[in-house]
Amino acid sequence: MILVTGGLGYIGSHTVVELLKSEEVLILDNLYNSEKKVLNRIDQITGKDPVFIEGDIRDEKLLDQIFTRYNIESVIHFAGLKAVGESVEVPLRYYDHNVNGTLTLLKAMAKHKVFNLVFSSSATVYGDKNPVPFHEEMPLSTTNPYGTTKRMIEEMLGDLSRSDEKWRIMILRYFNPVGAHSSGLIGESPKGIPNNLMPFICQVAKGERPKLNIFGNDYNTPDGTGVRDYIHVVDLARGHVLALEYLLKNIGLEIVNLGTGRGYSVLEMVKTFEKVNQISIPFEVVNRRSGDIASCYASTDKAKVILKFDAHKNLEDMCADAWYYMNLGENQ
Ligand code: NAD
Ligand code: WQD
Repeated sequence: MILVTGGLGYIGSHTVVELLKSEEVLILDNLYNSEKKVLNRIDQITGKDPVFIEGDIRDEKLLDQIFTRYNIESVIHFAGLKAVGESVEVPLRYYDHNVNGTLTLLKAMAKHKVFNLVFSSSATVYGDKNPVPFHEEMPLSTTNPYGTTKRMIEEMLGDLSRSDEKWRIMILRYFNPVGAHSSGLIGESPKGIPNNLMPFICQVAKGERPKLNIFGNDYNTPDGTGVRDYIHVVDLARGHVLALEYLLKNIGLEIVNLGTGRGYSVLEMVKTFEKVNQISIPFEVVNRRSGDIASCYASTDKAKVILKFDAHKNLEDMCADAWYYMNLGENQ
């Protein structure tokens, strides 16, 4: 059985859907940023019923009970907080959920001799000094507490792996996950005003917001707007299944980027969304957002070689699926 922490969240729920094709799954989620109805949606899509435990990864006793009661072979660890701006305002909350939460989980895994782990890291750890494309060996730096929690956890996992060769750890550095399951039943539903581009575009398309603010058009990029490596969340989810397969055959720790290797600008994203969904997105160019970099995209060589991973879905699919979910899934 695979323990998926944060399995009702955006990336976790899509990964659970992929895992259920061949595995039994136990989801541990405290519903901090997700809803229980996602469980029914997973059931609707897969016809399967994963075990769900509502609880916190920082709860040592609960983890002890879970590892005692269930035969967990591996853990995919998504649970954590991810809003960059909020992490600047309430850093201790981020260190607590992300770093302390991961530490508590790792201690429980060690106690119960579960040594296989896939961890959600982020391209944010490449910081603002590296040239694109970002490859796994580059030096890391972070510009906000959220990013620092990911960097600290990566270091903790490195130390752990060096201390005991029984650990098999895969750190996945995601680029910009967008889109939704093609059923329209699960997807991204940010609470409040979205921070990220695709959810914001969807809300403008729906008429919930009057226009998109584009944060700067004076970057050193082909059209001056920020360039990112958007990856369809279902491709990302498949990457986790491949990561798990790899872990079971190989010892040690690996760090792998999950992106498409192709960057798109904000304006390209807006135009593609408009074309695919036949809807216009009013926008205004405003000042740069503090902390943003001009370009961010992945070197995908390592993912191709060691995971045999390639993204299948393109920007059109990402825009169509995000919009379909916005109209179907979010409203049910
Ligand atoms: P999400 O917020 O949708 O999912 C996280 C889930 O974890 C939520 O369901 C939340 O309720 C749960 N959770 C939070 N704290 C918890 C705790 N202490 N105990 C138990 N459950 C808890 O986020 P997501 O987009 O699915 O991201 C999943 C992981 O991937 C996160 O670790 C995030 O930092 C990382 N990541 C996300 C992105 C992105 O752009 N979405 C990019 C890079 C990395
Ligand atoms: C994409 C582009 C913006 C909103 C963030 C986190 C990162 C990772 C993924 C977790 C940029 C522009 C955005 C808007 C805009 N998360 N934009 N108007 O900043 O690349 O990455 O999510 O690990 O850590 O920082 O993603 O979607 O916010 O922005 O013009 O209203 O869209 O400036 O160029 P970002 P994003």
